[in-house]
Amino acid sequence: MTDTQNSSQRLGGKVAVITGGTTGIGLATAKRFAAEGARVFITGRRPEALNSAIAEIGHGASGIQADSANLADLDRLFARVKADAGRIDVLFANAGGGSMLPLGAITEEQFDDTFNRNVRGVLFTVQKALPLLGKGASVILTGSTTSSTGTAAFSVYSASKAAVRNFARSWILDLKERGIRINTLSPGPTETPGLVELAGDDKAQQQGLLDYMASLVPLGRVGHVDEIANAALFLASDESSFVTGIELFADGGQAQV
Ligand SMILES: NC(=O)c1ccc[n+]([C@@H]2O[C@H](COP(=O)([O-])OP(=O)(O)OC[C@H]3O[C@@H](n4cnc5c(N)ncnc54)[C@H](OP(=O)(O)O)[C@@H]3O)[C@@H](O)[C@H]2O)c1
Repeated sequence: MTDTQNSSQRLGGKVAVITGGTTGIGLATAKRFAAEGARVFITGRRPEALNSAIAEIGHGASGIQADSANLADLDRLFARVKADAGRIDVLFANAGGGSMLPLGAITEEQFDDTFNRNVRGVLFTVQKALPLLGKGASVILTGSTTSSTGTAAFSVYSASKAAVRNFARSWILDLKERGIRINTLSPGPTETPGLVELAGDDKAQQQGLLDYMASLVPLGRVGHVDEIANAALFLASDESSFVTGIELFADGGQAQV
């Protein structure tokens, strides 16, 4: 056991890759995983955001600029992880996002951007990581409550997350007997840059969106990123060793009503 490894840490000695780890849910999870003893690699497209996230995470975390929808970037990402760490114990395919347009106004550009990030990106992230994933590895896909319910002007994003949810169900069959767990973590509305940006730049409109979303949640508030990181930690750790193929909602009850 090294100085930085501690037996009470829930991810001690594990190697974790988190895509979209520079802000919001991914950053909070990277901080939590690193504090729990994991060697953390994060990705994102913006180099300046990567640099500040790495400084915030500490614990020797590494940042690799990579667009999850770009297969050459993914090859470079996993070649670097292989060279530096040799394997992946936890893969959090979290990079994603979307925008709001109602049916009638949906554009080809919005569709391609959303499905490239949320579907193509998640699919090829996991597929290209497979050679580094061994028995006992945990793969976590970021879904969304929106895949289970209807949301006005959000059908493209919601459908992309429904695809993600099915990936976990089907891939546990494709990978039968390899001992790799794959679960979907579906947050409800959670205060992140990605969420508030849906309301544009105006602060009052952003607060209005958060208040409206809180009103739809049985617990009466939006989620905090640390609450999603806690759920990710459970799925990443050996405490969930017999849990695979599920959708874990961290949503204040929103998708249950
Ligand atoms: N916040 C919510 O209420 C909520 C609810 C349900 C699900 N989610 C999901 O949770 C995940 C994280 O979202 P968030 O709310 O934390 O948003 P966020 O703060 O905007 O974070 C998104 C992260 O993903 C990165 N990213 C986006 N597209 C990428 C791509 N193509 N390749 C690599 N990195 C990419 C971003 O960095 P760059 O822009 O620099 O690439 C950033 O690090 C997403 O999958 C989102 O759909 C969020």
